[in-house]
Amino acid sequence: MQRIAVLTSGGDSPGMNAAIRAVVRKAIYHGLEVIGIQRGYSGFIEADMGPMNLGSVADIVHRGGTVLRTARSEEFKTPEGRSKAFANVQRFGIQGLVVIGGDGSFKGAEVFNREYNLPVIGVPGTIDNDITGTEFSIGFDTAINTVVEAINKIRDTATSHERTFILEVMGRESGYIALMAGLAGGAESILIPELRQSIEEVCDKLKRGYKRGKLHSIIIVAEGAASGLEVGKQIREMTGLETKVTILGHLQRGGTPTAFDRILASQMGAKAVELLMEGCRNHMVGMVAGKVVASPLEAAFHGKRPIDLEIYNLANILSI
Ligand code: F6P
Repeated sequence: MQRIAVLTSGGDSPGMNAAIRAVVRKAIYHGLEVIGIQRGYSGFIEADMGPMNLGSVADIVHRGGTVLRTARSEEFKTPEGRSKAFANVQRFGIQGLVVIGGDGSFKGAEVFNREYNLPVIGVPGTIDNDITGTEFSIGFDTAINTVVEAINKIRDTATSHERTFILEVMGRESGYIALMAGLAGGAESILIPELRQSIEEVCDKLKRGYKRGKLHSIIIVAEGAASGLEVGKQIREMTGLETKVTILGHLQRGGTPTAFDRILASQMGAKAVELLMEGCRNHMVGMVAGKVVASPLEAAFHGKRPIDLEIYNLANILSI
């Protein structure tokens, strides 16, 4: 193998730059050439790509976002779009591809591999941490630290005014961000799509807390479970408590990556190159029990990653 390409696709996540840096530098270290594809599969189709060198990835390990830019390409979902991308594979002499992104991006990569036989390795990059085959995806740690920082700040004003706050967090169909940030931030209730919790239960817990002298309450709602605004309205109607709603939105996707995410991204990016050099194809790198491992790409998007019930129960016990 002489020349590989790398792209970032789907929602960006902090640490993607550290992963790009690892792919480029590890590949160059082993004598390979690297093509950087801009704007994910859109750039793949439109030939928006060019050679990368050691300097292309200088001074980016600490930056959020992705220097390669990203996109959600509708055209790559069509056979015509993929055939244009393959024409560019031939034109640029690409012999292997590293895709840094989430399960949607891996789905595209898997179909492309089946049609055109280009070896592809996936590197999980998403704040949602919803990918089967890895305990952590790049960006999740930074995102939950951002949420915890927001909880800390909201707690100050919630205590002063003795208010109930509802914080809606991202995660798409997954409750991982809500669960882990809720545990770390000491939330009273955590609503996640994997486990349905009734608003009555949430309200009972709130009332019990206030009776015991609690000055404020924080409820974390995963966007896939319910709308924060709706939950706030229902709690107000059912308890008469004043509720305030904060939707954290895209600020969860930005920011300088934590050391954990940079280390994870560096290990995963380097492993992706190693796998390509070993002749592995259609696999995803993952972190399992502290080790970087490879698993079949399709496992990443077949079936939903189950939530950690022990963590959920623990969060409930600790917020009694
Ligand atoms: O997958 C990452 C994510 O941030 C989800 O948590 C969220 O639902 C979605 O992307 C938002 O996508 P967009 O940036 O396209 O609005």
